[in-house]
Amino acid sequence: MSSEALTIAVSKGRIFKDALPLLAHAGIEPVDDPATSRKLILDTNQERVKLVIIRATDVPTYVQYGAADLGIAGKDVLLEHGGAGLYEPLDLKIARCRLMVAGRPGGVEPGRRLRIATKYVQSARRHYAAQGRQVEIIKLYGSMELAPLVDLADLIVDLVDTGNTLKANGLVPLEHIADISSRLVVNKAAMKMKHSAIGRFVDRLAEAVAQAD
Ligand code: ATP
Ligand code: PRP
Repeated sequence: MSSEALTIAVSKGRIFKDALPLLAHAGIEPVDDPATSRKLILDTNQERVKLVIIRATDVPTYVQYGAADLGIAGKDVLLEHGGAGLYEPLDLKIARCRLMVAGRPGGVEPGRRLRIATKYVQSARRHYAAQGRQVEIIKLYGSMELAPLVDLADLIVDLVDTGNTLKANGLVPLEHIADISSRLVVNKAAMKMKHSAIGRFVDRLAEAVAQAD
């Protein structure tokens, strides 16, 4: 990699774990493990490459404002953010799941105004607007599966992978909204200013994704 400094924003947890082999293919290996370290800026084996460890939902914001040159974020998070100031050059095909409407088996009575509990307000709004349905959206920050069980909402919009969380709570998937995977995002100004370093990094990651697929 060239001498241009690169800062990459990534969340700890499943995205970090799945991104590690891809980063390793691009020659980047973090010195500390975010699962055990309290550091928010991680050094890597490359002196000019740092990882910043932030909440998954904050990754697009750091990259949009140039606080990080690049980031790895779920498409669910990018759909909520809207993508301003970002390029999205690569589907990393990690942390794959589906954004779905779910609820109690049997669905809901037709015709009445639905209450939808979700962390994904924008995606839920777009989904129901496309169906021409007026819905009330209740913003939550987690444990969406609880909402229909305690009559906070009729339905939820949430991520589904194995379906185990829905099943454990007596819920069923009802409508598919979007296939989700993590994407590489790049700050638009950094793409111009650090074109060669970012170009090489994107190429190496693309190779790693193709090999893993
Ligand atoms: P935040 O820290 O912002 O609250 P989070 O706790 O939801 O985010 P994770 O659970 O690590 O963070 O999820 C990060 C990303 O991983 C999500 O944005 C989504 O793209 C993907 N993801 C979430 N749940 C699953 C799942 N069950 N299977 C596969 N991928 C998932
Ligand atoms: C995600 C999502 C669902 C669950 C779906 O939660 O919000 O609850 O995974 O996965 P499944 O279909 O395989 O059960 P996560 O595990 O990230 O927990 P969190 O939302 O509390 O972080």
